[in-house]
Amino acid sequence: MFRTIDALDVKGKRVLVRADLNVPAKDGKVTDTTRIDRSAATLTELAAKGAKVIILTHFGRPKGVEAKYSQKLLLEPLAKAVGKPVAWADDCIGPAAEAAIAAMKDGDTLLLENVRFHPEEEKNDPAFAKTLAGLGDIYVNDAFSTAHRAHASTEALARLLPSAAGRLMQAELEALAKALGSPEKPVAAVVGGAKVSTKLDLLGNLVSRVDYLIIGGGMANTFLFAQGKSVGKSLCEKEMADTAREIIEKAKAAHCHIVLPVDVVVATEFAENAPNKVVSINAVPDDMMILDAGPASAEAIIDRIGGCKTLVWNGPMGAFEIKPFDAATNAVAQAAAQRTAQGKLLTVAGGGDTVAALAAAGVEDKFSYVSTAGGAFLEWLEGKTLPGVAALEIKASGGCGCGGGHC
Ligand code: 3PG
Ligand code: MG
Repeated sequence: MFRTIDALDVKGKRVLVRADLNVPAKDGKVTDTTRIDRSAATLTELAAKGAKVIILTHFGRPKGVEAKYSQKLLLEPLAKAVGKPVAWADDCIGPAAEAAIAAMKDGDTLLLENVRFHPEEEKNDPAFAKTLAGLGDIYVNDAFSTAHRAHASTEALARLLPSAAGRLMQAELEALAKALGSPEKPVAAVVGGAKVSTKLDLLGNLVSRVDYLIIGGGMANTFLFAQGKSVGKSLCEKEMADTAREIIEKAKAAHCHIVLPVDVVVATEFAENAPNKVVSINAVPDDMMILDAGPASAEAIIDRIGGCKTLVWNGPMGAFEIKPFDAATNAVAQAAAQRTAQGKLLTVAGGGDTVAALAAAGVEDKFSYVSTAGGAFLEWLEGKTLPGVAALEIKASGGCGCGGGHC
């Protein structure tokens, strides 16, 4: 259980909002403002309620103070997203931060410099967290996508001030709870991506949570290989065959049906428009590589999804970044989007390449929920406790959960 902004009286208060404005950038310009735009709801609501909104975030992985990781480049897209100017401080603690905060009026918004310019941030250092806490009266964590990090601004700080989940954090947690916490059954999961080795915990957790585990991408090759199929020149982690067989056994015991391709698109090289053909999974030529699931596989998957009420999606079904090997990802994603529009399927997606794959399929806005998180979404699918979420939990024993004796 966690508290939301609804429970806060923020008028005239200094509210420290941990956002995740860690956006992609090139040549000093933000190239994708999604995380900024999705953070705006919390920021504008707090400002409208008369709070002094002080934004804490990280950008990149600086080692100490590094000019190229300055967050100044966020100011312009941020001001656009919240619809008014945003003030700036050159440091997230110390005289610069204190002076900028002292100059704020109710309803103002301020962005502080990169919290990771202080190595204490990533160490979850209690003294650093205390210094941050001294800058505010209330803490709001809106950074689900950084909640897998136990850092000072995501974890320790939540225990020092009255705290609550922001609207984006709330939306992420509610969507994830609907998808895997107490989902409407049957539940299917599409898990794609290159390697089984990076998604072992995830697959291990999902087989006991879902009815159908649909495996695509490079990792499907490892499963096919583990079942004795010849995969030619395909990406395949042969040393993971035993692990793949263990996952298959675990799935059987849990009555989870693993869905693998029955036909595949093979090509001579990993390149856009490489000569290709569709073959049965029993007839992959030795000198060719699998780059996508075939049309019969896509149809079978769409059929399966047709019988489900909930779908969790992580990772592409094939080499979606090079055409025409995006066909299975597109077909399955579009079918899922259509059933979502008909109100027959709840679709929740997130993690790494997933958003790019869904955007390329033209369905990014047509799923029930698309997470802003990469690593945090994966860790959540693995069934792990996210420290940033755990720190917001309100203990059933009563109290506000701030742990700091403030309330
Ligand atoms: C992310 O983009 O995954 C989050 O902002 C966390 O960043 P990190 O992986 O550098 O901790
Ligand atoms: Mg990351």
